[in-house]
Amino acid sequence: MMVTTRTPEQTQSLGRRLGRLLKGLDVVCLFGNLGSGKTTLAKGIAAGAGFKGRVMSPTFGLARLYRGRRLALNHLDLYRVGAGETGDIGIEDFIHDPKAACVIEWPEAGAAYYPKDRLEVRLSHVSSGRRLAFKALGRRSRELLGRLEAK
Ligand SMILES: Nc1ncnc2c1ncn2[C@@H]1O[C@H](COP(=O)(O)OP(=O)(O)OP(=O)(O)O)[C@@H](O)[C@H]1O
Ligand SMILES: [Mg+2]
Repeated sequence: MMVTTRTPEQTQSLGRRLGRLLKGLDVVCLFGNLGSGKTTLAKGIAAGAGFKGRVMSPTFGLARLYRGRRLALNHLDLYRVGAGETGDIGIEDFIHDPKAACVIEWPEAGAAYYPKDRLEVRLSHVSSGRRLAFKALGRRSRELLGRLEAK
């Protein structure tokens, strides 16, 4: 699935629709350059999980937990994490939390820890805004994407 958004609000609204569909143990990886809209999308996802508070890039904190009314969401940002340092973070704890979904910005460094079945989103700058390419890597993520596309 490929979507182009013209404004941050459109990216958030797409995230909100995705966030409403997520369940515990779902993993969403957000790839893309600086400023491509990963945190903007994550804000929407948190809103869709029923979280009313502020969502910021956890670049300096590494991970944040949003306790949404509907679902808890772990928000990770591995921008500052080197490929060899992931063992220290306990990424597994965030990913294997049955009560929470997990959304990860700059997911490259943690690749070894993610479940096979996950949703990948690649965000990029285009002249009209941002392009978001969604890819499902398993049965559950295909179901998710199918439901998102149907909306
Ligand atoms: N269509 C769009 N979707 C999302 N953001 C957009 C769009 N058009 C413009 N923007 C702007 O692009 C910026 C995206 O910032 P955001 O923090 O979401 O990016 P990021 O991918 O998380 O960056 P970083 O790698 O630094 O964490 C914001 O300033 C936002 O206002
Ligand atoms: Mg960000």
